[in-house]
Amino acid sequence: MRKLPEDLKLGVATASFQIEGGWNAADKSESIWDTFCRIPGNIKDGTDGNDTCKSYEFYQRDIEMLKFLGVDFYRFSISWPRVLPNGFANKISEVGLGYYSRLVDELLANGIEPVVTIYHWDLPQNLQDLGGWANPLIADWFEDYARVLFDALGDRVKTWVTINEPKQFAIYGYGMKLCAPNIVSAGIGDYLAVKNLLVAHARVWHLYDMEYRPKQKGTIGIVIASDYREGATDSPEDIEAGKVAFDFEVGFYSHPIFSTTGGFPERVVKRVAERSAQQGFPRSRLPEFTPEEIEYIKGTSDFFGFNHYSTLFYSANSYKPGMHEIPSYNDDIGAVGTYGTYVPTSVPHTTKIPSGIRKALNWVKDSYNNPEIMIFENGFGNLGGNNDIDRIDYYIAYLDAILDAIEVDGCNITRYTAWSLMDNFEWMSGLSVKFGLFEVDYNDDKRTRTARASALWFKNLIATRTLNT
Ligand code: NOJ
Repeated sequence: MRKLPEDLKLGVATASFQIEGGWNAADKSESIWDTFCRIPGNIKDGTDGNDTCKSYEFYQRDIEMLKFLGVDFYRFSISWPRVLPNGFANKISEVGLGYYSRLVDELLANGIEPVVTIYHWDLPQNLQDLGGWANPLIADWFEDYARVLFDALGDRVKTWVTINEPKQFAIYGYGMKLCAPNIVSAGIGDYLAVKNLLVAHARVWHLYDMEYRPKQKGTIGIVIASDYREGATDSPEDIEAGKVAFDFEVGFYSHPIFSTTGGFPERVVKRVAERSAQQGFPRSRLPEFTPEEIEYIKGTSDFFGFNHYSTLFYSANSYKPGMHEIPSYNDDIGAVGTYGTYVPTSVPHTTKIPSGIRKALNWVKDSYNNPEIMIFENGFGNLGGNNDIDRIDYYIAYLDAILDAIEVDGCNITRYTAWSLMDNFEWMSGLSVKFGLFEVDYNDDKRTRTARASALWFKNLIATRTLNT
């Protein structure tokens, strides 16, 4: 039995495209995920995000579930094309903004703190038509959009996430055709998106910091997918392969913001430069930051937003040139990760390796002078079933490792968030992969939600603030 630290807040998370449905309600325009889902073969089970959990209609039921669990906070995201149908801030949808404003009011009325993600991957399609995150002007568009949200909701929302998991939409979306907007340009389009999104993130942080924070007194930061990578063996080559992979996974996004030097991590810069030269490029495929940009981006996150699911192991000789049908960032890493001796499952993110979360948390602590860490996602995906002992097992093992990170290692962790409140649209895996504490019945028009064993377990954890290991 372990007591949770008194100041550790507990919550659950969702994201707009994954739960709302209402894809064409009122004046909402389409997002890049609406487009992506329509192309046959993109979503493994052929489903789409048109209706999903219908939270646009049934959000009050979601609030009842949050109350049942007794969470301190609810992390949800805002659909950019629902609020700004043109993508641009010249036309604000009253209906769209009204939806989020009511949601915030009702959460607060029920004693639940709203934590709002500004961007969780559903870019307006009309901005993608102009290049989306590959166009440097995205920083202007993103700033204008954020301003609309701060103006409308900032009196009540005090914790903001600018961008969720940059790697997942930049690398998979602009490099590997695995996510919207479905572009294959590995090592070029994706790196361009990475640079632009870091500048755009910094813009919004500065905007909040200078214009809104003095009055609204909130906190704002980025959320980085922080799955761990390590060497498959103790050989120096494998250890280095693990470090390279982790720098491509996390450092790529965190270093420019959290390190004292700023800019991309050295290993990433070096590898991409070397490989670009070998491939005959007259310059590195990695876009450079100007010295002004480096300074501008440094320090632009009030906390380290940390999502974590699993760990991959890298060995230096795991890579053969041309081994991937579609080129990928693995080509630059020069190694491919596996679950090593752990048993992999066919479902993404389920391989339970709790030692990895403790190592990743310590890496953040050691690399960036022990910043405040908010764990904004951690969870277990499977194919369903309400007696989800496998999910409870996963949560217990990971929370146990997190408590070690706090109590033994001194990591400064202030929030823990379970992904997810309920089953939802799991991106390219569609509706068949389930992460919910609550089950959602997609065959029923009302999308009835039923508490799983894990929901009762989480409720008890919150009520007793005791982890039974
Ligand atoms: C990360 C993403 O932020 C979320 O949208 C996704 O559903 C979960 N991980 C599970 O894969």
